[in-house]
Amino acid sequence: MVKEENNHLFFGGVDVVELAERYGTPLYVTDENTLKANFRNYKSTFSSTTTITDIYYAVKANGNLALLKILASEGAGADVFSPGELELTKLAGILAERILFNGNSKSDDDLRTAVESGVRVSVDSVDELRALSAVATELGKEVEIAIRVNPDVSPDVHAKIATGLKESKFGIPFHDVVPVCEEAEKLPNVLLAGLHCHIGSQILDISVFGEATEKMMALVERVYERGMKLKFVDLGGGLGIGYRQAEKATAPTPKDLAEVILPVFEKKMQELGISLKLVLEPGRSIVGASTILLSRVNAVKRAYKNFVAIDAGFNLLIRPVMYDAYHEVVVANKVNEQASELYTVVGSVCEAGDIMAKDRMLPKVERGDLVAILDTGAYGFSMSSQYNGRPRCAEVLVCDGKVDLIRSRESIEDLIRNQEIPARFI
Ligand code: LLP
Repeated sequence: MVKEENNHLFFGGVDVVELAERYGTPLYVTDENTLKANFRNYKSTFSSTTTITDIYYAVKANGNLALLKILASEGAGADVFSPGELELTKLAGILAERILFNGNSKSDDDLRTAVESGVRVSVDSVDELRALSAVATELGKEVEIAIRVNPDVSPDVHAKIATGLKESKFGIPFHDVVPVCEEAEKLPNVLLAGLHCHIGSQILDISVFGEATEKMMALVERVYERGMKLKFVDLGGGLGIGYRQAEKATAPTPKDLAEVILPVFEKKMQELGISLKLVLEPGRSIVGASTILLSRVNAVKRAYKNFVAIDAGFNLLIRPVMYDAYHEVVVANKVNEQASELYTVVGSVCEAGDIMAKDRMLPKVERGDLVAILDTGAYGFSMSSQYNGRPRCAEVLVCDGKVDLIRSRESIEDLIRNQEIPARFI
């Protein structure tokens, strides 16, 4: 999707230098065709197998409504983690029966919203199970549930994004799952429908998905042995993408994932003589590569290192700081120039750790140049903040040369909007 013309980066058929002039910087730019292609890749891969698979896009990765609308029209369901994300999916037109409400810490209000909306709930603890049953009973409604399993598997990823280790906060310990299912069967107004896990994110060595599937299917067997029945197994998201140029060709694809998961899944279903739906919850692998972050160079400083100071920082893209994540950086107005110097690209936030990209070979950079940080569609804008009194930036959607604004830039007024000064200070 990234191509070059006249020394300028083109993205979705649009000259990003012109985009930056028109909409200002920083600016998130999403390419509709990449988004669609990534979703369609999942859909076509999994629809060509005998197992019925539903793709629930993980809204936390990027909750922009325009993107959700596109994914809804492509046939996506949704994994949501809060009433806010639930509302976004409803606005996007995703049907309640294809939404799973996740979370390890849901209030009674959260549970009430989920039950009233008619979505399924992934139950993360016995406390929550009992509270959900009480809330559903009070509302006179039934709610289908999945039990979130902690499968105790260890993907080779950054510690902060491994979610299925036995010491993780997520899920019910593997050996407690069957008794919790039995309790669910006895409680009023909750209907056991599935088992759910999510083992981590940015997983490039996908053999661990096979291990998780084995464990989940062993649980399915034990659930059936105890006379209970299920409708689906949800194996979560987590498929990694190639952030480094050199990884792009080798990063695993949905097809690779299918080849690891499905044989295990289908073998156990055959042995048990049952048929379950498979649910997947990809976020990053659908939206990650669809987006770039454009940022203007405010200063080039030759000091202990060559620093390129840009107008975005970890207020807009926290991944490099929080997970030591690597994102490729391109000087968007000099794409055909030779990389000639080593630079460290730093943000505008008042913290020494606000480093976007360390030690990169780039063409000679000057104040006023435009930098594009690539593959920022997942956990970019959705993790942004107003730290240091910086309003959040705008987002645009590009498609075959067309441009639409999909979120306006916040103003200083937005920073102040909800603040109240106690009367005694006025
Ligand atoms: N399902 C559940 C229950 C999840 O918790 C997550 C992500 C997903 C699905 C989607 O996972 P994905 O396919 O995107 O890997 N902020 C971190 C990633 C946190 C992931 C949280 N859970 C990052 O920027 O790397």
